Formats: sequence, structure tokens, C-alpha cells
Amino acid sequence: MRVLSGIQPTGRFHWGNYFGAIQQYINLQGDPSKAFYFIANLHALTTVRDPERMRQNIRDAALDLLGLGLDPEKATLFVQSDVPEVSQLTWLLTTLTPMGLMERCHAYKEKKARGLTADLGLFSYPVLMAADILIYDSDIVPVGEDQLQHIEVARDLAGSFNHLYGECFVLPKGKVLDSSAKVPGTDGEKMSKSYGNTIDCFEDLKGQRKKIMRIATDSRPMEDPKDPETDGLFQLYSNFATPEQKEEMAAIYRKGGFGYGLVKKELADRAEEFFADARKRREDFAANYDYVKQILAEGAARARQKAAEVLLRAEIACGIRN
Ligand code: ADP
Ligand code: TRP
Repeated sequence: MRVLSGIQPTGRFHWGNYFGAIQQYINLQGDPSKAFYFIANLHALTTVRDPERMRQNIRDAALDLLGLGLDPEKATLFVQSDVPEVSQLTWLLTTLTPMGLMERCHAYKEKKARGLTADLGLFSYPVLMAADILIYDSDIVPVGEDQLQHIEVARDLAGSFNHLYGECFVLPKGKVLDSSAKVPGTDGEKMSKSYGNTIDCFEDLKGQRKKIMRIATDSRPMEDPKDPETDGLFQLYSNFATPEQKEEMAAIYRKGGFGYGLVKKELADRAEEFFADARKRREDFAANYDYVKQILAEGAARARQKAAEVLLRAEIACGIRN
């Protein structure tokens, strides 16, 4: 049973990325031959077009993931482009991909709906993602809810290939461990880099407190009782609080007579505490980046071994290799 997931190095990881995706897959680590996690830099090329920024983002992604608890003794961490077999498999899958299937995929569809021009990379992005998944015989792919569609594409393409050329690929399953974890941003909308409403996991602490104090709240009178479940600030707080702390805070909401400043201060304290060990770990890794490079190199070597085996199987199956 192999778990695999990837995350794009498009900027520093925020609370939405952590609670929606990263935390889930870090919790699934255990045996490095069974947990593969990678930095999806080939996918990020569809949006990051500055080479210096790309290099910095890859470095930050590795440090963030290791800081957040990805353990090289328990998982294989690597950079997507260090496994060139993925790009080779992408082509084989592309030859079996119906245009209509790609046209229905949301990244391209949404861009087009907004009247923006998309390139072929964004259009065919789910095929590269399918290759990422299929090349490691992945069984489980833990992701945020918005990525489930792409896992369906991987299953479809694997099914078509197997049907045409004989059993070759394992059919993967998507896994959304906690679909309720849609983390709201500072404006109450879904937290996302594209909305500019993020709080990063390793934000400078002063700046983090300031951002938290500016989180949008409603303007109802302090005395009014409020429903915690519909409040973005409460949802954010819940991610960091113990069940008892969460219940206590919910009771304060229901009773009314409190100011949001109090909740924001509690949130800032809990968040600071929550990421304190991770912050320290990240600093230690950053101070020893040669060690991080070694982790990534060893990860890539392990991933390539599996990728080469599956690519060969696929090439033999479709008759381009004997
Ligand atoms: P962004 O929207 O900031 O660009 P990405 O699309 O790169 O983030 O998301 C990376 C992963 O984090 C995905 O698996 C996605 O589902 C998850 N994710 C992103 N934002 C949130 C959020 N606000 N709540 C829950 N999960 C999220
Ligand atoms: N497309 C994913 C995202 O934007 C990242 C990704 C690329 C991925 N390849 C993958 C996730 C393979 C899981 C499996 O979040």
C-alpha cells in the first residue's frame, strides 16, 4: 500500500495548505518505501515564470515540509523534476487522453471562464498529475477536496491504458481525510494565495499577530449571542484549539457579550504555540541546507527506482520497447 501526494512550490505554505492537505499526509507517513511526497515544480511552471523565484520556492517548500514534520526516516521526499521518467510517462498517457476530459477539468475551465487565455501546460496539467500518481503504483492519494477530480482523471487514464494494453497500472484512490477542513482566510473566503487572504505557517510572529487582528468580523453588537459554527474566526481558532478550548470558546459565542478582539488574541496565542516546534525545526534545517539537499537526493533516488520499473512496464505494454 503506497501513499503519494504532491504540493506545488508556488509560495510559502499557509494554514489552508497545512490543515487542508499537508497535515493529513504527514499523519500518514510511517515507512519511507510506502509514503512518497514530492514538490510539484513541473506543475508550478504553469504559474511561476521567474527562475530565481522558482529556486527559492522549491527550497522554501522543502524547508516548510520538513519543518511541519515530514520525517525523512518515515517518508520519501523528493522534487518532481528529479524523476524524469514522470515526463516520459506523461506522453504515453497524453496519447490516450480525450480532449473532452481535459476540457472538463476545473483549473482550465475556470481560467477560460474568467476570459483568460490558458496554455497547453495548464490544459494538460491533470495528465502530468496522473503520471505522478501512476508511476509509483500509488494506492492512496491524500489531497484537498479540489484535487479529487484530478485523481478521477488518473483512474480514467489508468483504466483506458489497462483496457487497451493489458493490466499495467494500479488504480489509485483519492482520500480526503477531513473534507470539512476548508480553512477560511482573513476575509472569510476560502484561504488561498490567489485571494491574498493567507496567513503562512511560518509567518513572522509580529506580522502574524497583525494579520490576525485584521481578520474580518461582522459588526453585530457585542451583547448579541453568536453562532460559532458559521463564524470564520471561530473556524480558524478551532484548528488550533484542544476540544475543551474549542467548547469553551463556543460557549462564549453562544452567550454573547464578548469582543472579537478576545478571540483574535486567543487565536494568535494558540497559533504561535501550535507551530513553535515546527518553526524551530525549520530553522535548524535552514541552517543545514546541505543536509536537506541530501534528503532530496536520496528521496529522488528511491522514487526513480520505482518510477523506472513502472515506466518500463508501460513501455513494454504499449510496444515501444521489447
Ligand atoms: P492556493 O489556493 O493557496 O493556491 P493550492 O491550490 O496550491 O493553494 O493548494 C495546495 C493544497 O492545499 C491542495 O491540496 C488544496 O486542496 C489545499 N488547500 C488550499 N487552500 C485550502 C483551504 N483554504 N482549505 C483547505 N485546503 C486547502
Ligand atoms: N495538483 C496538485 C495541487 O495543485 C499538486 C499535485 C501534483 C499532486 N501532482 C500530484 C497532488 C499528484 C497529488 C498527487 O495541489
